[in-house]
This record gives sequence, structure tokens and C-alpha cells, in this order.
Amino acid sequence: MALDRSEAISWYRRNRARSRALFDMLPEPVYFSRPISLRHPIVFYEGHLPAFSFNTLVKKALGQPGIDARLETLFARGIDPHESQAGGQHATWPTRETVRQFADEADARVIDALTREDLERPDDPLLDRGEAVFSILEHEAMHQETLLYMWHRLPFDAKRRPSTYTPRVEGDVPDEERIAIPAGRAVLGVDRSAVPFGWDNEFPACAADVPAFSIDRHNVTNARFAEFVAAGGYADARWWRPEDWRWLQSERVEHPLFWEQSDRGWFWRGMFELVPLPMAWPVYVSHAEAAAYARWRGGRLPTEAEYQRAAFGMEEGASRYPWGEATPGDEHGVFDFSSWDPEPAGSHPAGASVWGVEDLAGNGWEWTSTEFAPFPGFRAMASYPEYSADFFDGDHFVMKGASPATARELLRPTFRNWFRPRYPYVYATFRCVR
Ligand SMILES: [Fe+2]
Repeated sequence: MALDRSEAISWYRRNRARSRALFDMLPEPVYFSRPISLRHPIVFYEGHLPAFSFNTLVKKALGQPGIDARLETLFARGIDPHESQAGGQHATWPTRETVRQFADEADARVIDALTREDLERPDDPLLDRGEAVFSILEHEAMHQETLLYMWHRLPFDAKRRPSTYTPRVEGDVPDEERIAIPAGRAVLGVDRSAVPFGWDNEFPACAADVPAFSIDRHNVTNARFAEFVAAGGYADARWWRPEDWRWLQSERVEHPLFWEQSDRGWFWRGMFELVPLPMAWPVYVSHAEAAAYARWRGGRLPTEAEYQRAAFGMEEGASRYPWGEATPGDEHGVFDFSSWDPEPAGSHPAGASVWGVEDLAGNGWEWTSTEFAPFPGFRAMASYPEYSADFFDGDHFVMKGASPATARELLRPTFRNWFRPRYPYVYATFRCVR
């Protein structure tokens, strides 16, 4: 049995409570706004989460009747920034009250299905090893991260700050240090039968021989990145791919989106306040900016296989987490919503990998130079066939690891994230290899 029914119900409730708390941070007028222009307005997401769960598990997998055909369709889809350009063009969105009534009914039907239906059916691709159940649970957890980086763009007075929260800014900038990783094999994918659940892009088992390389012990900090900015890195075409250089010109990009300049110097736009640029924090940048810095610094971004090798070590008994088998905890890194902002690089040495590389899971996703593509033998999953396949277009790059807003359930070696190279909103950092 891959699926524990009571654990699934409690995970679903945990997810719903966290989503509700995130939406409750926002006062009414903000609810219909679009903090990121390429994405849907906020109202869409409060309907989308229960709609996806209901549509996928109750309607599609279990064949039960719907609740409200119009709302189920309206809230059905919305994951990629590029394709959702038309998403906000609906003339009218339902009221918040209507959305929440629909959500309550969808939740009740999902919980009922989780409680009493046959959820594991080996002869049904939708329910083989409980696929639809895990899909809805991980889908909501992943969306919570996208909600947070949308909330990040809202004005500070448009979201309620938890009374006890203060960003952790104090910390010394770690020295630049490189760790040599010997040649060896890296695990990339896994067999479907070997794990309770994975998304289709994690299958099947796949490994790569990786030549020896050296990798930064720490993420590139704001301190290091400031050297690139001060050296005129954003004004020198040599460091940028042509398409990225054109983006700098057309959008007038001169520094990371998370940085803001005033007559008192550089500040970091945190979730709830501007803070004087915390030099020890990992810089958050787009793939384009990360790759330009690496080129300027005489290095490059790691491949996905190099990240895997640095994080999970040997192919024989590759570890479950960078730090080994221990259940993820606060000492291992900044993830699972433990903070609304990053923390100083290198402040979680207990999370170092077998080679001593730190923060590989947590404190910001890690950009790789690998284009998002299927492993040989890929098959789109039944419960969510467009999840990966729609993005094998050569214009998305793989990110690995986790950010402060990544649920702990997503910390597994083969989990892959991907974004377009000039999408600057995500909690993504990087390190260099040579
Ligand atoms: Fe979605």
C-alpha cells in the first residue's frame, strides 16, 4: 500500500488550512487584483485549489457528478505564467463568498472520497498507487509557494503581517569556498514502483556519469552579487545570452527584482518590509541573471546532474536528503514555510551534503543550466497529463532544491521544478561550478 488514508486526509486538511490562512492575509480589495501581470488575479487561485482537487479526484478519477459546471471550468487551469496571459480577461469573477461556498462543497466531497472510496486501483492509471490523491495533495502544496511569491509583489499595506515575524537578517557573509566533487554517477530519475509518488517528469529511473567538478559551498550572496552590479555587469553584453540581453534593454533591468535602491543605498524587498540589503542572504535572481553572474565570475551554473551529485552523493544508496535520512527539520535548512524570507547563507550546516555543500535544499531554489526535458521513457501521467508535457519546449530551465515556501513533502531527490529564464519573481538562487 503506497497510500495511508488517514495521512492523506490530514495532509489535505493541513493544505487547506494553510491556503485559507494565506488568503486571509489579504483584505477584500486586494482579492481581485493581479500582483503579477502574467498570472491570474488572486480570486482565481482560491477557487482553483479546491476545483483542481475536486475535478481530478472526485470527478475524473472516481467518476462522481459535479457541483457547478461553470465554476469547475472557470477554476480548472492556471499554472504557467506565459499561457495564462488571457486568464484575467474574464469580465466578472465570482464574489469571494461564492468562491468560498464552492470551495467548502468541493472540500466536503474530497474529504468524503478520501474517507470512503477505493483510492488505489492497480488497473486504473488514475488511481494506480493512489496517483490522483497524491497529485491533488502535492498540487496544492506547490501552489502555496506560487501564492507567496505573488503576495510578495503586493504593497506592504495590502497584506496582514503575522505579529511575531521578524526577518532574520544578521549573519556574516560566508567566505567564497569551492568543494571538489570527484567524477561519479548521479541519480536523476526513479522508477515509479520505488516511491509512493512522483510526478511524471521524475520517471523512469535515470542516471548520468558526471566528470569531476568543483562547486561553491554556499549560494551566491547579495554581497557577492553586489560586486557584479557595481562592476557594471548589467551594462555589459559580454555576460548575457543575446535574448537575455534584449530583455535587460527592453525591461530596463539593472539589478535583481528583490533589490530596491534609495538615496540610503540598497534594500531588499522582503515579504512585509524593506530591509537594508542583507549581505549574507542568498541573492534571488532569474536564470538569465544567475548565468550572467556565473560567466562574469569565470564559472557556470551547475547541470542538473551536477546538482544531484553534489546533493545526493553516490549512486549506491543515494541519500534521501542532502544531509542523509533524518526527517527534515529546522536545523537542516529554510523550507516548509519556516520563514517568509531567506536567512543568511551557511546558517544551517546540519543540512550540508556528504561533500559539505550547504543549503542545497532550502533558502531558495537552485538554478541549473539544464533545459527541462523528459527522461528517456517518459510517459505523461493520467491524473494530470499536461503537468510536464506542456513545458518541454526548450524555454524552461530546471531548478532543484527548495525555498522557504516549499513544503517539506516536496523535498525528495527527484523532484524537479522549472521556469522560463527571464521570470524574475520566484524564490530562486544559485551557485557556480567550475
Ligand atoms: Fe494548478
